[in-house]
Amino acid sequence: MQKFIKENWPVLLISITVLVVLVIKSVEILSTAVTTAASTDYDSTWKSPSLFTDRTLEGKDRALVIYGQALIAHTSLYLGPHGKIAAISNGMNCQNCHLSAGKKTWGNNYGAVASTYPRFRDRSGTIETIYKRVSDCFERSLNGTAPDSTSEEYQAIEAYIRWVGQDVPKGVTPKETGIYKLPFLDRAADPMKGKLVYQNQCQRCHGENGEGQLALNKLEYEYPPLWGEHSYNSGAGLYRLSRFAGFVYSNMPNNEANHDNPKLTVEESWDVAAYVNSQPRPGKNLKNDWPDISKKPIDHPFGPYTDGFSEIEHKYGPFKPILAKREQLKKSKIN
Ligand code: HEC
Ligand code: HEC
Repeated sequence: MQKFIKENWPVLLISITVLVVLVIKSVEILSTAVTTAASTDYDSTWKSPSLFTDRTLEGKDRALVIYGQALIAHTSLYLGPHGKIAAISNGMNCQNCHLSAGKKTWGNNYGAVASTYPRFRDRSGTIETIYKRVSDCFERSLNGTAPDSTSEEYQAIEAYIRWVGQDVPKGVTPKETGIYKLPFLDRAADPMKGKLVYQNQCQRCHGENGEGQLALNKLEYEYPPLWGEHSYNSGAGLYRLSRFAGFVYSNMPNNEANHDNPKLTVEESWDVAAYVNSQPRPGKNLKNDWPDISKKPIDHPFGPYTDGFSEIEHKYGPFKPILAKREQLKKSKIN
């Protein structure tokens, strides 16, 4: 070996130098790729990180995020009626409404959570942490109770949500996060028209009575329920027509529609929202919601209101006259 090195040292030296230069170059190329990805232009589509390519997340932190993703995608296995950790929710998974575990553009994703919380929200009239916001979905959308903030389950959920939004600068809400705001109709949304949309486009999966269909394991849904005792309650975001219609327009039928290729028209989306949300579902005591009643969203269907419109008008619309009246009230306050 020594003899070989002595005789061939110039060749060896050149080979080693070439190798070192190559290694340095490839590290440079990789790191510029990473910086470009991190400084994404937020007028363009938000893209979630991927566990496959994110190699900076290691060890315990990685395990926690992976557990968090499993809890979002298969909540019911852990926390549903037969959950292996606790029985504290209605059998739905977070992912049923936060599609692709909260990563799908316009699929009610978590892109803006890490960047915008804690923040003030009118519904509670307080500054809300991520824990408060997640608890709200447990208590309303999952019609149950939230796991303790110190539990491993909650810690994993928050770690995952923070990881999903890790590339978004503080304070920024990227386009295509959350739920799309559909244009308002000039008429009230019509449950009778919506029933036809439901029968033609939704019933084959979500069932004749909106009951959905359990998966083979009987522990979570293949097709989640849209109304009835196992569905979201009247305090949930989807109970507001604009949220439901916007979600469905960009995402349903599942795996067939997406925001750039919707299967329903704007009208059909509003009407099917009216039909589904006129069916029975669990109630929720909302007496502490919207302490400032003038801040209620125009499609919040529970009074009292300051604008003089009825609960029925606030539930189904038409919403343009309500908006106009509110603008007028704002102006008269200023003058
Ligand atoms: C029945 C549907 C549904 C289910 C199930 C559901 N959510 Fe939600 N979630 C919503 C809606 C609707 C919103 C409000 C979206 C909006 O108004 O833009 C929301 C909002 C959120 C937000 C705030 C997003 C933001 O950008 O402000 C978080 C965080 C959240 N949900 C977490 C969860 C978690 C965790 C679970 C499971 C434990 C869950 N959700 C289950 C429907 C649901
Ligand atoms: C091909 C089957 C299929 C069709 C058709 C379909 N959905 Fe869905 N829907 C799903 C699945 C599956 C999910 C849950 C997605 C997940 O967990 O990844 C879902 C989720 C939902 C959710 C959120 C979860 C919940 O239960 O509240 C709503 C709301 C919804 N669908 C409404 C509709 C409406 C309205 C239509 C008709 C316009 C429709 N869907 C058509 C399969 C379907």
